[in-house]
Amino acid sequence: MTLLDITSLGQDLTGARVLVRADLNVPLEDGRITDDARIAASVPTIRELLSRGAAVGVCSHLGRPKGQHRPELSLTPCAISLGQFLQRPVDLLPDCVGAEVAARIEALQPGEVVMLENLRFHAEEEANDPAFAAALAAGFTHYVNDAFGAAHRAHASTEAVAHVLPSYAGLLMAREVEIIGGLLERPQHPFVAVLGGSKVSDKLPLIQALLERCDRVLVGGAMCFTFLAASGDPVGTSLHEGPDAQRMARDLLESGVRLNCMLQLPSDILVADRFAGDANLRVVASDGIPDGWMGVDIGPRTAATYREVIADAGTVFWNGPMGAFETAAFADGTRAVADGMVASDGVTVVGGGDSGAAVAQFGLAHEFTHVSTGGGAALEMIEGRVLPGVAALQRRG
Ligand code: 3PG
Repeated sequence: MTLLDITSLGQDLTGARVLVRADLNVPLEDGRITDDARIAASVPTIRELLSRGAAVGVCSHLGRPKGQHRPELSLTPCAISLGQFLQRPVDLLPDCVGAEVAARIEALQPGEVVMLENLRFHAEEEANDPAFAAALAAGFTHYVNDAFGAAHRAHASTEAVAHVLPSYAGLLMAREVEIIGGLLERPQHPFVAVLGGSKVSDKLPLIQALLERCDRVLVGGAMCFTFLAASGDPVGTSLHEGPDAQRMARDLLESGVRLNCMLQLPSDILVADRFAGDANLRVVASDGIPDGWMGVDIGPRTAATYREVIADAGTVFWNGPMGAFETAAFADGTRAVADGMVASDGVTVVGGGDSGAAVAQFGLAHEFTHVSTGGGAALEMIEGRVLPGVAALQRRG
C-alpha cells in the first residue's frame, strides 16, 4: 500500500505553512518524558519540511484529558524535547485553535517551527468535528499526517482535517504503512508471529488474522496460561482468563489445525512462588505447574526453540513480551525472542507497545527491520481493519 507522501510535495516549499500531525503521546513521570522514541520518530519529516523552506506547526494529543484543560498534560515537555532534537527553538502556542493561534501561524517564517497545545483539551477533537478541523487548519497551506500511532482514531486532527487541506503522509506514516502492509500483502515465508501479553480475549481478532497468514504462531506471556487452562492443564496461581476466554482459546487451537498454521505453546515454564525479583524459582513442564506457583516467563527449553524458529524465519512479527521482562530474573524468554529476531536474515517487525519497550530496554531497538511506533494502530492494521487516518490520506491520493 503506497501513500502520497511528502516527497511528492515540491523541492521548494518556501511560503508553505504545514500542519504536521505527530503522535507525541509519550510516557511521562513527574512531568518528565521517560521514553522519547515517538518524538525522535517524528523528527525526519519535520526536518525534511523545514529543509525545503516550509514553516511547520506540529500538533498532537497527549494522554486522555477528555476535553478538559489539564495542565499536567500540556505538550510543554514535548516542545522542549523536539527543540533539542531539531536544535532550534520550538515555541508552544497557548492553544491549538483560535484567532491568536491562527494569526501566529499566518506570520510563521520559512524554517520556523511551533507546537500547538494538546488537541484533546477540546472535546471536538475526538468527536471528529468538521468545524474544529477547519479551525485547526486556519493559517496552514498543507496537512501532513505522520501520526501512525493515532491512525486508528477517527479524530479531527487525523481524519476531518484531511478534507480541508491538501494532505500527505509523513515519512514515518508512509514507512509504517508500507512495512506493516507488506506483512499482509507479501510476507517472506516461513512467516512466524510471536504473541505474548496478558489476554487472549483482547487479541482474538489479531490471533485469528495471524493464523490465516502465518506458518507458525508462537505463544508466550500470560496469555499462554489461558491456552494451557483451556487444554485442561493446571496453571497454579498464574494470571489467566476464565471459561469464555478459554473457549476462545480452544477455538483458536482448532482454527490453527484447520488453517495449517502451528499455534505453538511453551513446553516448559519458569515459575515463582510469588511475584518478586527475589522469589524462589523453578522450571517445570508446562502441563505441570504446581499449586501455589505462578508462571513468570517461558522456560529455557521453550526459549531456545522459539529463538531457533525465529532465527530461521523469512518474516517475523512480534507483539507482547514472553514474561514479566521488567524484572531481570523473568526477562530471558523475551530476550531470546529479541535475539532470534536479531539473528534472522528475514524481515523483523516489532509491533509496538510492551515489546517495543522490551527491545528498548535491551538496547536492541535499531537491530530490527522496523519497530512500530503504533501499538493499537499496528494491531488493527494486521487485523485487516481500515485505519481512518490512513484512509483519509488514501482518498486524498
Ligand atoms: C497510543 O498511544 O496508542 C496512541 O497515541 C493513541 O492513544 P489513545 O489510545 O489514547 O487514542
